[in-house]
Amino acid sequence: MIPKVYILDDDLTYAKLLAANLGKVGKFRNEVFDSHQALFARRAEEPPDVVITDLVMPGLSGIEVTRRLRQSDPHLPIFVLTAHADLETAIDALKAGANEYLTKPVNMEELTTLLSRALEERPLREEAASIQKVRQAEFSLRAILGAHRLIDEVREFVTRVAEIPRPTVLLLGESGTGKNLVARTLHYSSPHSAGRFVEINCSALPSQLLEAELFGYQKGAFTDARESKRGLIEVADAGTLFLDEIGDLSRELQAKLLNFLESKRFRRLGGTEEIEVSQRIITATNRDLEALVKKGEFRTDLYYRISVATHALPPLRDVKSDLPLLAEHFRDIFNHEFRKQVTRISPAALTILEDWDWPGNVRELRNVIERAMIFADGPELTPADLPELGSIEVAEPAEVDGDAFKLPKGLTLGEAEREYIRRTLEACEGSVQRTAETLGISRKNLWEKRKKHGLLDSQ
Ligand SMILES: Nc1ncnc2c1ncn2[C@@H]1O[C@H](COP(=O)(O)OP(=O)(O)OP(=O)(O)O)[C@@H](O)[C@H]1O
Ligand SMILES: [Mg+2]
Repeated sequence: MIPKVYILDDDLTYAKLLAANLGKVGKFRNEVFDSHQALFARRAEEPPDVVITDLVMPGLSGIEVTRRLRQSDPHLPIFVLTAHADLETAIDALKAGANEYLTKPVNMEELTTLLSRALEERPLREEAASIQKVRQAEFSLRAILGAHRLIDEVREFVTRVAEIPRPTVLLLGESGTGKNLVARTLHYSSPHSAGRFVEINCSALPSQLLEAELFGYQKGAFTDARESKRGLIEVADAGTLFLDEIGDLSRELQAKLLNFLESKRFRRLGGTEEIEVSQRIITATNRDLEALVKKGEFRTDLYYRISVATHALPPLRDVKSDLPLLAEHFRDIFNHEFRKQVTRISPAALTILEDWDWPGNVRELRNVIERAMIFADGPELTPADLPELGSIEVAEPAEVDGDAFKLPKGLTLGEAEREYIRRTLEACEGSVQRTAETLGISRKNLWEKRKKHGLLDSQ
């Protein structure tokens, strides 16, 4: 189908001229209008694929027209034309939702290129927006389950902090209490997060690797740096950088991080240029940071810097009244995942669950229900299906214990990375999921790194 272009200009002669020129290109069908009323009436009959509007017109300005069109169609390509370009109106037009702002006389070649591109990009934009929507629903406040007052407080904290453009947030809480969940929810429920959610586990990598991951490096910064690489700080620009297990950061990196947090500027390793970024920083730890500060293991100044907005997530044993709700939620999830028809948890099984004190918190509960669901074969989860409580390994990222991971001196960064991945894989008994979690990277990223280092089983 040939795309329909509606051209709006109170100077109808100009509009017709433009339509005639566009017509010659042969890629568009054009209609011209000399008032917004005429355009809106026609649009109600047959919506356009693109609108080109003049800026200054009696009645509604091009900016107002743009705003109204944008309201009813978030992805319609809209072009604003003007005889007198100035920066301010250009900005206003773009803010109102225009795709482009062009000055008369229009360069036809430029216009047709821009039109074609806007039309091609439309489906991509729509797809990106719908993915964003799905993510928003997945990590909306509703993802944080629980009716307990302490969980209400968690949701209130998220709501309040999500409204602040770029707060620094510290999430505390035992392992498995939902720190990662809350960090994601904060990102996806904030109107200020245009960029990506990027997370890194500070305890997962040796200090030099972590530094390179965070700050990136310049080509030639060290032997293996054949290409420049953006660090996660840059990748998360305009979004959220989630630094998990912040309590495990080395002293050296604590100093560097503090520096960055204070200036919001940094240099890539081996780089000279100062790069400025702006993002939300969320940190989390299951360790007692105040105690670490007292022991001198964590810098006081960094602690004050990251703890501007702090919230401690309650352990499951303190919100026990929510246990049935959470347990049923996980039953539901694994019902779908394992294609079973277990419709409820028996009262006897619930009593057993409620008597346990859940040192591994919600994650442990999830794992217990997952295991039980594997064995369940009736319509009900019964005590017989439950594993022995306390026997379930809470699949936390593998402990990176000192000696096993001490790397030989003199390795290049690339060699160190290869060796580190190899040993982590070994420590995780080849489990890709746990290795990726331990390293704080995605499974895809892990696969790419294994491929690069010749660490795939098939290689
Ligand atoms: N209130 C909650 N509602 C629903 N799911 C929850 C809730 N709290 C935790 N979970 C789930 O429990 C699991 C563990 O949560 P999460 O990974 O966020 O914990 P964590 O505090 O980051 O743990 P760790 O300190 O070990 O990293 C996840 O599957 C998460 O979705
Ligand atoms: Mg976590």
